[in-house]
Amino acid sequence: MFTLRPVFSNLAKKNLLRTYSSASSKVTGVYVPNKDESGNYVVTLIPGDGIGPEISSSVKRIYKAANIPISWEEVDVTPFLRDGKTVIPDEALHSVKKNSIALKGPLATPIGKGHVSLNLTLRRTFDLYANVRPCRSIEGYKTPYDNVDTVIIRENTEGEYSGIEHEVIDGVVQSIKIITREASERVARYAFQYALENGRGRVTAVHKANIMRLSDGLFLNVCQEIAKEYPSIKFDEVLLDRACLQITQDPNMYGDRVMVMPNLYGDILSDMCAGLIGGLGLTPSGNIGKSASIFESVHGTAPDIAGQDKANPTALLLSSVMMLRHMHLTTHADKVESAVLKTIAQSQFLTGDLGGRSTNTLFTDAIIKNL
Ligand code: NAI
Repeated sequence: MFTLRPVFSNLAKKNLLRTYSSASSKVTGVYVPNKDESGNYVVTLIPGDGIGPEISSSVKRIYKAANIPISWEEVDVTPFLRDGKTVIPDEALHSVKKNSIALKGPLATPIGKGHVSLNLTLRRTFDLYANVRPCRSIEGYKTPYDNVDTVIIRENTEGEYSGIEHEVIDGVVQSIKIITREASERVARYAFQYALENGRGRVTAVHKANIMRLSDGLFLNVCQEIAKEYPSIKFDEVLLDRACLQITQDPNMYGDRVMVMPNLYGDILSDMCAGLIGGLGLTPSGNIGKSASIFESVHGTAPDIAGQDKANPTALLLSSVMMLRHMHLTTHADKVESAVLKTIAQSQFLTGDLGGRSTNTLFTDAIIKNL
């Protein structure tokens, strides 16, 4: 059984085993394990671009040292065009389908060059309907806030990211935001189920239904309907701009709950929360689907530091912790999480993004010592 070390504060004690978590049940989609001959769980690993291979290698080293019963199936997802559409190589597709779980490094998307984002393609291909982004202050790493403990659940398949854009006439473009009852229902139900499974007593819908009356209005109405299925969980709603103000004034206000929202709001609000705890190098996420789930860090490929052994692997490591909990490998998750947080608290081997001078390699070595 995992025991708390004195280095952790009351905040850490409150929710240590629950913050970096997902909801995994009949309601949300059940993980069906695929094991190899040695009894290890087979997990698809997509190292990704930029710093992706460096941080993935850190995860692999730590998992090996910690004897986590996982065999990595490494696949390349370099996209190509088939009939004018961006598609993922079949090998990668089959691997994720077969294992129903993957850990993914960041993937580069060229801006404004007509490419469909590979991240969006993956989310659509596997219908990864809920994006879970927990964000918690890390003991030993001082920021202006020491009480952040937010969980954002972002609708992951439509909204402002439907990818439908037209040039109406020269100089006038149109971008279509789609909100459906079906997608709103399943992400709302996921948020309530997450709250139930992770001991959070409230779900707050974040929206702009005062302006986008039909689209956000539908999202909000559906959240209100689903709330009736979960009488033990309180429900309320807040406008996006007000939520930003409140979180930056007192993040503790949102520490007891789960926030659920349409796609774009979740993307922006989760980066804002990451900023409160020390940056993108620390924030994990999970993309949850009914038949497969892909865990990844919130950050991108960090091209400015790629290949220099400067990347902080914490976000991918904590994503892997969420993945282990999703797979019900709780003791292993506790072991990795505890070693990562202890290493940051010791502050001897911090990487540049956290104000230190250490390398990814030395930080990884220190985590291995702390296992
Ligand atoms: P970014 O997250 O890659 O970098 C922003 C800043 O944070 C940079 O200064 C970078 O050095 C730093 N940073 C990020 N992760 C870090 C880590 N682990 N350790 C230390 N420092 C870290 O965002 P940017 O520059 O906007 O995007 C670069 C590329 O990544 C783009 O092609 C974008 O499309 C892609 N991207 C991919 C994502 C994914 O695969 N899920 C998510 C976000 C962006």
